[in-house]
Amino acid sequence: MTSMLLLSGPNLNLLGTREPEIYGTATLETHVARATSAAQRFGATLHHLQSNHEGVLIDAIHGARGVDDAIIINAGAFTHTSWALHDALSAFEGIIVEVHLSNPAAREPFRHTSVLAPVAHGSIAGFGGLSYELGVTAAANLLGITQTP
Ligand code: DQA
Repeated sequence: MTSMLLLSGPNLNLLGTREPEIYGTATLETHVARATSAAQRFGATLHHLQSNHEGVLIDAIHGARGVDDAIIINAGAFTHTSWALHDALSAFEGIIVEVHLSNPAAREPFRHTSVLAPVAHGSIAGFGGLSYELGVTAAANLLGITQTP
C-alpha cells in the first residue's frame, strides 16, 4: 500500500488561533483530516508529524527513507532557512511536495525564498486547506496512482 508522510513544521500547531487573517481559522487537525481523506481516495495511507524542532523533522525524513513513497511538507519558517532540511529531503528517494497555506511569494521578502523548493518535485501555496488536498493529489499523480472509485 502506498504510504505518505505529512510533515508540519514550527508554529503550525497553533493553527486556528495563529494569525487567522493569514492562515484562517481551521486547525492543523482539520488540515490533516483533509489530507488523510485525499490520500484514502487514492488508496494510500497518510501519517502525520508536527514538530517545532528542526532535528525532529530531520529524523522523521530519515525514517521515511525506504518506508514512505512520498513526503508532503509544510516546513513553516524552516522553509526559508533550513539547509539541513534541504539536505535531509535530498536523501529521500521518493516524491516530495512542498505545501503552504498562505502564498509566501506575496508576503514579506524573507518568505520569497524556499530552500526546500529545489529538492521538491513541486510546490503548492496560497490555497489554505486546499493546498494540503492538492499536495496529496500531486504526490499520488506523480506516483502514478489513479483515484479509486
Ligand atoms: C507557511 C508560510 C511560512 O512563511 C510561515 O513561516 C509559516 C506557514 C504557510 O503555510 O503559509 O509558518 O509555511
